[in-house]
Amino acid sequence: MSTIFSGIQPSGTLTLGNYLGAMKHFVDLQEEDNCYFCIVDEHAITVPQDRLKLRENIRSLAALYLASGIDPDKSTLFIQSEVSAHTQLGWMLQCVSYIGELERMTQFKDKSTVGKEGVSAGLLTYPPLMASDILLYQTDIVPVGEDQKQHLELTRNLAQRFNSKFNDIFTVPEVSIPKVGARIMSLQDPTKKMSKSDENQKSFISMLDDEKKIIKKIKSAVTDSDGIVKYDKENKPGVANLLTIYSICTGKSIPSLEEEYKNKGYGDFKQDVAEAVVKTLKPIQERYEELIHSDQLDEILDKGAEKASFTANKMLQKAKKAMGLGRVK
Ligand code: TYM
Repeated sequence: MSTIFSGIQPSGTLTLGNYLGAMKHFVDLQEEDNCYFCIVDEHAITVPQDRLKLRENIRSLAALYLASGIDPDKSTLFIQSEVSAHTQLGWMLQCVSYIGELERMTQFKDKSTVGKEGVSAGLLTYPPLMASDILLYQTDIVPVGEDQKQHLELTRNLAQRFNSKFNDIFTVPEVSIPKVGARIMSLQDPTKKMSKSDENQKSFISMLDDEKKIIKKIKSAVTDSDGIVKYDKENKPGVANLLTIYSICTGKSIPSLEEEYKNKGYGDFKQDVAEAVVKTLKPIQERYEELIHSDQLDEILDKGAEKASFTANKMLQKAKKAMGLGRVK
């Protein structure tokens, strides 16, 4: 049995990209493995957040995890800030990280274009906190979308560096990125990834969008003018993105979809993609509505934090001992 860890930021309602690239895969993993799924609220505050909105997003993300099929009897679901070992080990890992390697992270570069006076130090030290999330649980595998690959490489480097400098205590995790859907693209600019922080609401489908909105957004998705439903990421990124979404939502292969739409136009194609997305999200949305106001949600999160703390604290003690922090007890 492997240990799995993954996290999602509560920085807005999740997109179809988050679901198809990450969350959907979590559900299958919990059948065989020891899984930890985290609501990484401390990562979310690396950029400004409205206090009340953040609280709402944390609860909403917990309900979405459960609605999408995370079973609290099989997986540990918890909030990062409720397990203090994360920031404690995060600090220690910051002290083994180099500023240079953190400044080279593409996500830091993309988000810090306003200049060093305009971004928080937390945005720079975000990856050692992520490494801490993962390393506290002796994680073997981290299922994520493609945009997290670089952070995972850094996590591996930090684990190896710590193990060789201090003591060999951390498991060096492997990353698991899905073959299809690891990078769902924006519907308005299919050369950019679909993101919940995009200002253009038409560029992403939120997991809680209703049927009408989903249909409207997919119908207005940017494609091209040649009218052929074919997977060509370079020359037809919009159509390739819709084919990817359609394929994951229906389980049909991309070549079989190309064949099915050989003599049809984009109108029919988009209508069917939209219906497939609605069919995928609707059952999740229905369960979400039942869960969002239930006390059950708090009980699950309390139990999750308790379970996660137990494991994380043991690892934290080992790391403190390895670095010589505190006293020998
Ligand atoms: P976050 O919150 O940005 O995204 C959560 C997960 O969704 C994936 N994802 C996508 N997959 C496909 N297409 C997209 N357009 C798309 N957008 C997002 C992400 O790759 C991710 O798997 N740093 C992480 C959160 C984190 C974490 C961790 C992850 C904190 N600690 C420990 C794993 C392990 C993040 O910002 O993800």
